[in-house]
Amino acid sequence: MRQPLVAGNWKMNGSSDSIRELIDGILSGLETKAEVLVFPPHVYIQQVRDLLSGSPVKYGVQNASDKLSGAYTGEVSPLMAKDLGCEYVLIGHSERRSIYGETDADVAEKFCALVDNGLVPVLCVGETLEERESGATMKVVAEQINTVLRAAGSERLANFVIAYEPVWAIGTGLTASPEQAQEVHADIRALLAENDPSMADRTRILYGGSMKPDNAVELMAQTDVDGGLIGGASLVAADFKAICHAAGQ
Ligand code: 13P
Repeated sequence: MRQPLVAGNWKMNGSSDSIRELIDGILSGLETKAEVLVFPPHVYIQQVRDLLSGSPVKYGVQNASDKLSGAYTGEVSPLMAKDLGCEYVLIGHSERRSIYGETDADVAEKFCALVDNGLVPVLCVGETLEERESGATMKVVAEQINTVLRAAGSERLANFVIAYEPVWAIGTGLTASPEQAQEVHADIRALLAENDPSMADRTRILYGGSMKPDNAVELMAQTDVDGGLIGGASLVAADFKAICHAAGQ
């Protein structure tokens, strides 16, 4: 039985004041059986750690380097994330891929560095609208995942999360229908099962892309949707809590 996971990706938003307010709001009256976590911008990790101390809500970083230390200006090491109590790290978000040119191979290297240093990667995958319309969705998603599986080898696949985020649904208000999401999630699980059926069975596959309180229940009701990776709605405490609640039902 996979425990649902709801993760808020705050992207490059917030200030120390707004973050205090948001976390106060999330913690007040949060009731869910889901595991809940937030991905603040790096510079606020220490503050978020203090604010979440003693609560069940976890936190992680939105990106990390594949290198552990040294002359890599502007980068953040997996060891630094670990040092500040992060458990999860987001990698391969479509904004990292499309704006900063991260390739499948780059993402695979980060995946390995995270696992080797005791962190849990949340691997984002997803197709553009053009790729969907040309029928290439699963070809693209499979390549994104297979590059990681090949680099990781079976020994690094004990604990990771996949987030399926169709690029055309991110920040657009367009959401994959529950059937569209389920179809891709089931295909992803089948792909994992070709590798190792028990890994496929335990690995959580989140949906992301304009998930809101009013579509969360239906999306999460799909057999292979194990939670959500939430952008915009994770910046509004009431909406984020409503989605957490939907996930725990
Ligand atoms: P939105 O929920 O704003 O569409 O963002 C999704 C996302 O990119 C989460 O990583």
